[in-house]
Amino acid sequence: MARLLSGKEVSAKVLERVAEEAKLCIAAGITPTLAVIIVGSCPASRVYVNNKKKACAQVGFRSLEYALEEQTSQAALLDLIRQLNEDGGVHGILCQMPLPRHIDEQAVCRAILPQKDVDAFHPENVGKLMLGEPRFLPCTPAGVMELLAHAGISPEGRHMVIVGRSNIVGKPMAMLALQANATVTICHSKTRDLAQITRQADILVAAVGRANFVTAGMVQEGTAVIDVGINRLESGRLCGDVDFAAVAEKAGWITPVPGGVGPMTIAMLMQNTLAAAK
Ligand code: GUN
Repeated sequence: MARLLSGKEVSAKVLERVAEEAKLCIAAGITPTLAVIIVGSCPASRVYVNNKKKACAQVGFRSLEYALEEQTSQAALLDLIRQLNEDGGVHGILCQMPLPRHIDEQAVCRAILPQKDVDAFHPENVGKLMLGEPRFLPCTPAGVMELLAHAGISPEGRHMVIVGRSNIVGKPMAMLALQANATVTICHSKTRDLAQITRQADILVAAVGRANFVTAGMVQEGTAVIDVGINRLESGRLCGDVDFAAVAEKAGWITPVPGGVGPMTIAMLMQNTLAAAK
């Protein structure tokens, strides 16, 4: 039976450390401030944004929410970002993804000042990560690395198999794992004989966005299984990309959903916001 990698526990430790450091910043006259932009009324995005604001309050940061209507034009959104870029009292800016279809997400990522881009989505920050000199660590992949470190699982020399090639998770996850000297394979929807590859993983990261996609037959005994997915079933219940009950019988380690990678993403965002303020 797999041991549980609890993001709840590890994120609480990270947040404690951030809160301590935030106190020093505040004493020096700077309150770390995160501007959070949400466009439209996607219920999942609303939950994520609320959780990010809650985390800000927990560590003593100021958070500013900009809730824009679904029909907001790209020009209006870019104008808001320009104002926030120029506001010296704002240290971090994030725009919750996905955005409505009429808005070009890459144009929005490019508009955020790289020094305030606490999601690390700006091309300059993506490039710096690729070169091994990151300004901000991408939040979800950094959260995965922190979870592994906490459990004493070193990626060095190990085979990390990542299922999913998104710009937010799959690709930056590969970069962080490479920097930690892992051997990395990225799989995706066109990969042939996926199970044959995932069974070679020492660390398996599932970031597909499909409930119960990773089954027990895709996992070898003892693997550390990291579930980045958050899917809502018709019943309303949240579940990850991994068939938790069956895979937990075989894996060495496994993250729960909720309470696994999700809280780690937010903790890393707080860490980045603190770094931006400093
Ligand atoms: N949508 C899903 N994950 C993220 C994230 O980490 N940051 C932002 N801004 N949007 C997201």
